[in-house]
Amino acid sequence: MLIHRYDGEQELLRPLFREADDSEQQIDTYIDLGTVFVAEDDGEIIGHLQLIARDDTVELKSMAVAENRRGTGVGRALVRTALEHCRQNATRSLLVATAAADIGNLRFYQRQGFRMLRIERDAFEASTGYPGEIVIDGIPLLDRVWLSRDLSGES
Ligand SMILES: CC(C)(COP(=O)(O)OP(=O)(O)OC[C@H]1O[C@@H](n2cnc3c(N)ncnc32)[C@H](O)[C@@H]1OP(=O)(O)O)[C@@H](O)C(=O)NCCC(=O)NCCS
Repeated sequence: MLIHRYDGEQELLRPLFREADDSEQQIDTYIDLGTVFVAEDDGEIIGHLQLIARDDTVELKSMAVAENRRGTGVGRALVRTALEHCRQNATRSLLVATAAADIGNLRFYQRQGFRMLRIERDAFEASTGYPGEIVIDGIPLLDRVWLSRDLSGES
């Protein structure tokens, strides 16, 4: 498996972006932005990670690993690459947001060194493209959790 910066048309990665965000409306607003890294195996793209810079912080806006390749370290390797990229660019902090309902993602990001930052209540509303009544692991999709990985002093 090889992780490298993606230089193709980001629109072509939409199926992976969809794995990370239920709102097509939201994906439209950011799919073309930022820097994208991909994990490639045997010529096939099996994962992506998108970084969008805002001042001296960077947001990990989207990431996903192909369903049949999850749990094999691809996501961890993508985050490691993102952290290296951020350190090289003197980024102070890497931010990520995920659903409070998604216990698996909360575990994944904390295992990669992220810490809880804040909660945005009722972030997943119909007005932002999230059809009501999405349930993850029995928990209604309502609130968004922001986590951060502090990189100051690490560059
Ligand atoms: C989240 C995601 C990118 C993780 O990628 P991955 O390749 O499966 O993760 P890894 O195999 O590198 O796992 C790293 C660690 O996180 C844990 N982990 C990953 N996904 C997990 C999940 N859903 N639930 C619990 N633990 C999880 C792994 O068990 C592993 O733990 P360990 O450090 O104790 O061994 C992947 O599950 C995915 O694509 N999910 C769907 C899209 C998505 O939700 N994206 C994030 C939106 S914010």
